[in-house]
Amino acid sequence: MNRAKHIAIIMDGNGRWAELQGKKRIKGHEKGAQVVKSITTFCSENPEIERLTLYAFSTENWKRPRLEVEFLMKLLEKHLTNELNSYIVNNVRFEPIGDLREFSKSLQKTIQNVKEKTAHCDGLVQSLALNYGSQNEILRAVNNLKNQDDDITQVMLSNALDCKHSVDLLIRTGGDHRLSNFLLWQAAYAELFFCDTLWPDFTTEELEKIIKKFTKIERRFGGLK
Ligand code: FPP
Repeated sequence: MNRAKHIAIIMDGNGRWAELQGKKRIKGHEKGAQVVKSITTFCSENPEIERLTLYAFSTENWKRPRLEVEFLMKLLEKHLTNELNSYIVNNVRFEPIGDLREFSKSLQKTIQNVKEKTAHCDGLVQSLALNYGSQNEILRAVNNLKNQDDDITQVMLSNALDCKHSVDLLIRTGGDHRLSNFLLWQAAYAELFFCDTLWPDFTTEELEKIIKKFTKIERRFGGLK
């Protein structure tokens, strides 16, 4: 049976969830942050799951209206500050991925603080993808490697990425069927699950069902059974 050691999620649908209820889009992000908490706790209680990587802010999300971007930054800072204790209690190590240099100094400090204070945790690794884009990640890795004499190998490139771990199960909520520049290298052999549920409505029960289906898939990695 397959093990979903590394689960990655594109958390889509916050805005539509809010609009459907006649609320402002930011209310969807607020509810979405609560779902981040419940899904992380669920994964931390399941020893089969080693990594959970969540797409929280893409390199393209800066194009959103200024107020929405500002709200997302504040929400992230609040979430990381308030949840630090839960990370530690649940033995979750926080390892952000993405180009963090674009964020405010204060947010960078908060991110670094959670990373340092959870560095000793040896349970689930939760990665938030922050100012993350797969193409940007690969470009940064190649630029870091380019000044050496040897040809770049697959292992070298993989180790130079922010996320060095292949994805087993990639889920996208919100009804769209695309990868939106998320973990393109790492998801080379991931099983892809697309569900219509909007992220604020996504539950641990739905995740459990997806994991159950995943365990029964025959994964061949390009070979034969
Ligand atoms: C997509 O919804 C979601 C995002 C832009 C980022 C995800 C953000 C959260 C889950 C909340 C904050 C997270 C943390 C960790 C505090 P959308 O706005 O694209 O929805 P839409 O497709 O319905 O417009």
